[in-house]
Amino acid sequence: MTLRVSVIGTGYLGATHAAGMAEVGHRVIGIDVDPVRIAVLAAGRSPIYEDGLEPLLVRHTRSGRLRFTTDYREIADWADVHFLALGTPAGPGGAADLRQLEAAIDSLAPMLTKPTLVVGKSTVPVGTALQLQERLRALAPAGDRVELAWNPEFLREGFAVEDTLRPDRLVFGVQSTAALDLLEQVYAIPLTEATPVVRCDLATAELIKTAANAFLATKISFINSMAQMCQAAGGDVVLLADALGYDKRIGREFLNAGLGFGGGCLPKDIRALAVRATELEVDVLAQLIEAVEAINEGQRAELAELTVEQLGGDVTGARIAVLGAAFKPGTDDTRNSPALTVANRLHAAGARVVIYDPQAELAPKADFTQVATVDEAVTGAEIVLHLTEWPEFRSLDPVALGALATNKIIIDGRLKLHAPTWRDAGWKVVQIGRAT
Ligand code: UGA
Repeated sequence: MTLRVSVIGTGYLGATHAAGMAEVGHRVIGIDVDPVRIAVLAAGRSPIYEDGLEPLLVRHTRSGRLRFTTDYREIADWADVHFLALGTPAGPGGAADLRQLEAAIDSLAPMLTKPTLVVGKSTVPVGTALQLQERLRALAPAGDRVELAWNPEFLREGFAVEDTLRPDRLVFGVQSTAALDLLEQVYAIPLTEATPVVRCDLATAELIKTAANAFLATKISFINSMAQMCQAAGGDVVLLADALGYDKRIGREFLNAGLGFGGGCLPKDIRALAVRATELEVDVLAQLIEAVEAINEGQRAELAELTVEQLGGDVTGARIAVLGAAFKPGTDDTRNSPALTVANRLHAAGARVVIYDPQAELAPKADFTQVATVDEAVTGAEIVLHLTEWPEFRSLDPVALGALATNKIIIDGRLKLHAPTWRDAGWKVVQIGRAT
């Protein structure tokens, strides 16, 4: 059944969700306070680099199934269901800052005159949904006939469209069968056909999302601590991860050792979970997360130190080529990018850092020089750092690059280069936790 769906907030999550809802057949309006973003989306263009998003925007803005606005009056009584897809950035002390969600509710609620379902998709601390529901009901003319549900989103940047159209699972945190029925209609076939659905209460739904991100972060920090063991003992962490991954209970994904996790989600979400755990006196969880964070920070620090060491203890004036600026391949997002943390440290130590990334554009005031090709970055470099594993870096020609670099030293911070090929071309290849 075709429904009228509003998506409030058109960032990564909201823009993709709106396009995905139109793709499965609903009529959709995306709303945002940013008129520039809305104009870009309304013209069928994607404000972010995300594979497959623009074709959906083009198709459905043209068909008229997908529209964008900045005016809450257009969505309030029009929609059968409102999705909240607002950002929850880090606030003071790392607690989640809920002001965007609150502001959206304050704008929407006074116009809700009929029974309405509002569905949160953002990542929030447990307990948020009930608080927001109170706020909604206090402001809405429809009062208690307005209900909040929580339906967390698990999409990955770089795979946002695929994850939206073919999710691993759907989580419906609800308080009533009416809310559940409506959510099931929203996600009706083809989405729910082969997708496991977890129906639960609000707190469980909120916790499932933060637990998923915390578990992924823990997996990465676990393998990075094993990389340290391999480094100390002479083992090979990639073979170790392969062997662990064959055990179905463990799985190979998120066991890639290297520079660790960054981005706009994992680091902030696990910090917010630790803060909430401390508030609720669940200290063991806070401690577990602190260990995960410390290992992750340690990887960045170590890579910077290793670079200084390779250049004889002083990088003042040294030209350093950095391959990769995005927090992971497949995106132009540099939020909390491990590559940029390392670059910043080396810049602070006096190095001249030259960065190449296939997609990410750095702010012009950034402390580094950004160049348009790998060749330009490597020319005259005293050391090369491979910090974001874009697939194209795997097929670089070490012989040709060797002729451009001042020193043939490369630190592979993501353990993805084929070291023997580079060594055959005369390069010294440094990989933490890999046997040489
Ligand atoms: C993450 C989750 O994977 C999504 O499920 C979730 O919906 C999203 O956060 C969110 O909360 O919105 P994303 O931030 O796109 O998605 O990034 P990931 O693919 O999870 O990668 C996170 C970081 O871990 C990257 O810096 C990546 O380089 C690093 N990573 C990943 C590793 O260091 N090793 C691995 O084996 C895997």
